[in-house]
Amino acid sequence: MMSLKEFMLKDHLNKARERAFALGQFNFSTLEQLQGIMLASKELSAPLICGTSSGEVDFLGVAEAASLVSIMREKMNVPVFLNLDHGRDLETIKKAIECGYDAVHFDGSHLPMEENIEITKKVVLEAHKKGVLVEGEVGKMKGESTLHDTPAEKPTLTSMEKIVKFTKETEVDSIALDVGSVHGIYADAPVIDFDRIEKAKNETGCFIVLHGGSGVEEKDMREGIKRGVVKVNVNTELRAVWRDALYREMTENKKEIVPYKILPAAREATREKVKKMIKLFSYEKGNI
Ligand code: G3H
Ligand code: ZN
Repeated sequence: MMSLKEFMLKDHLNKARERAFALGQFNFSTLEQLQGIMLASKELSAPLICGTSSGEVDFLGVAEAASLVSIMREKMNVPVFLNLDHGRDLETIKKAIECGYDAVHFDGSHLPMEENIEITKKVVLEAHKKGVLVEGEVGKMKGESTLHDTPAEKPTLTSMEKIVKFTKETEVDSIALDVGSVHGIYADAPVIDFDRIEKAKNETGCFIVLHGGSGVEEKDMREGIKRGVVKVNVNTELRAVWRDALYREMTENKKEIVPYKILPAAREATREKVKKMIKLFSYEKGNI
């Protein structure tokens, strides 16, 4: 999927690095969520990335997600890009590349390091032929993108040695690593290792991605971005506002059965949340 703007995703990430802001990656699996994300980008003239995880594309479809994003960004004239999030196999990754995703994330963090490196190298080879960016992952992130009422499992911070070896051998563009954040929102806020972010940025030259963007305290998010994060992945926060808005709407209007009268509440809640996060990620008009 080529950018309709003169700027490609890589240019936006470079700009983010230069000016110390971050692009949000906002995950979706339904149309009204995607509408909310697109509207937020339009309203703030802000570049952003839409994400689809394995579960999300199992529900929506890879080709369907790519087509929806392509049609909507063209029509709305917004700098919105699409990333396959936590791709688990080469087959789905190849499909995403073929369908026009702008970026793919191969998550081989559950594999032994050498195997993760081997598959990631294959992903890089396939993706770069088509100008698609690759995010690799080293060091297993904890958690699951939902609401939890228990404290989070302790992180196993990725060693600098592993980060440097992995990025050097695979030549990925972006890197996801365990710096203390977790997937999902827990009873306690995560403790972020800012020094590790800064070292990873300086020692790899890759775009540093903060996964588990939900539940991170605002001051920590700002500090993480200041120290080198240029992409923040957000899912749980959006899932929570989507569910709450629908629940509220259906409780207040018990007799309503028309989807296009019920779903705008979820679209609006998504739009507001995405706008809030874009502002937190320090994006300002004029940054592009
Ligand atoms: O890849 C997606 C994310 O890392 C989302 O994490 O659900 O904590 O926002 P989150
Ligand atoms: Zn993630």
